[in-house]
Amino acid sequence: MSGPRIVVTRRLPESAIALLEETGDVWVSPHDRPLTVEELHAAVAGADAIVTLLHDRVDGALLDAAGPQLRCAANVAVGYDNVDVPAATQRGVRVTNTPGVLTEATADCAMALILMTTRRFGEGERLIRRREPWSWHLFFLLGSGLQGKTLGVVGLGAIGKAVARRARAFGMRIAYFEPQPVPPEIEQELEARPVPLDELFATADVVTLHVPLTEETRHLVDADRLRSMRRDAYLVNTTRGPVVDEAALADALRDRIIAGAGLDVFENEPEVHPGLLELDNAVLLPHLGSATIETRTAMAELAARNALAVLAGESPPTPVNALP
Ligand code: DGY
Repeated sequence: MSGPRIVVTRRLPESAIALLEETGDVWVSPHDRPLTVEELHAAVAGADAIVTLLHDRVDGALLDAAGPQLRCAANVAVGYDNVDVPAATQRGVRVTNTPGVLTEATADCAMALILMTTRRFGEGERLIRRREPWSWHLFFLLGSGLQGKTLGVVGLGAIGKAVARRARAFGMRIAYFEPQPVPPEIEQELEARPVPLDELFATADVVTLHVPLTEETRHLVDADRLRSMRRDAYLVNTTRGPVVDEAALADALRDRIIAGAGLDVFENEPEVHPGLLELDNAVLLPHLGSATIETRTAMAELAARNALAVLAGESPPTPVNALP
């Protein structure tokens, strides 16, 4: 059917495509891989709305390649560090993201990484697959329990809170760093203690990262921060890879500056620092935080509703920028 041209840069769940097709003339990339920059620029030419994934660079060049009729860039992710928001605002393009719908799935993933690292479950699984001989004994693959330990939550937004709730159920105490005001009822519910960032890194048994990637948070966890952590502490990252200096982390894990790390995200995805691949105290997942059928469907449908709302001249459900 004819209608506004909507370009979707990679396959989406059918229900989201069906939503878009009710109104638009929809083009979906036929490739089972990210489009190259050249392919992206060619694909978006003449689009009224684009539905993008976190691996697509939505910058001034792409927006110009789309043309002045472009009205919406609907990112299928809560993180939008792949989008140059000022460039979009300048060109009158509404940017949207998908907060809320992936909170619980991502928190589950962070909690899984906390358990896989502290209890050495990743190591155990790898040992069996290597077909190494083993037998149960009192000192075999001993990890650390979570009861009474402190979880340091860096960023007490929706996902940080959801991780803290899970950690409470495992008997952990919560310390957090969050520049935005946190309502007293949340602090009470989580029995959460605000602490300065330096103190959080220096004292927590497990540090979990839940800040968006910005110029301020890039390499927030660098060699100095890692050195400030306890030697028996663990780091978990389910937000964006560049929040951690991956080379410094590989060194710190190798030299046992910290006890272990669980990572769902990497600095140059899909590349992983080769040093990390060698290490038994690193648990590595391929960006699976939101990877449930329910969550990915909800993300794609929300992105579709965002794009359609903008095309209809309405306010999108989850906007990132405001237009003058
Ligand atoms: C997001 O939405 O930003 C997540 O990283 C996707 O899993």
